[in-house]
Amino acid sequence: MSAPLHLLVVCLGNICRSPMAEGALRMRLAEAGLDRAVIVDSAGTGGWHVGNPPDHRATATAQRHGVDISGLRGRKLQADDFRNFDWLLCADDANVRDARALAPTDARANVGLFMEWAGLQGVIADPYTGDMDDFEQVWKQVDIAAKAAVARLRSGHAPAD
Ligand code: 4NP
Repeated sequence: MSAPLHLLVVCLGNICRSPMAEGALRMRLAEAGLDRAVIVDSAGTGGWHVGNPPDHRATATAQRHGVDISGLRGRKLQADDFRNFDWLLCADDANVRDARALAPTDARANVGLFMEWAGLQGVIADPYTGDMDDFEQVWKQVDIAAKAAVARLRSGHAPAD
């Protein structure tokens, strides 16, 4: 078996979008029997919430969809992430820009948008100052993207190609 693919979902705070995306990806990969072939983690470009659990609205939204993300803890994107992961999958364009600014000279990770990597369009808007409907919208987006990504991985047309 080839080496696992390492995916790091990246947003700003690592307490809303990227932990929800991590939860959705883990669920869909496990359903497909790919949870050992694809390793998933998440991080934020900002460090305000390091060590904190996800926002309670993100946890509640994921829980409503059958996914427990309460055990995740915020962490800041670091230089080693660019050496250890194949892809940094960002929620929006600012995350792409901010992530690239943190890349060390020996980075090997590709940096792109999570939606685009999954073969879809658009960005995942920040729900932090929004309401529960915004969190539900984020869940819908990350789960559609997670399912699309898993379908492509299963078909052999890996998004990493
Ligand atoms: P996230 O949302 O990037 O989806 O985790 C945010 C969480 C916290 C902050 C901004 C966005 N903040 O400014 O603290």
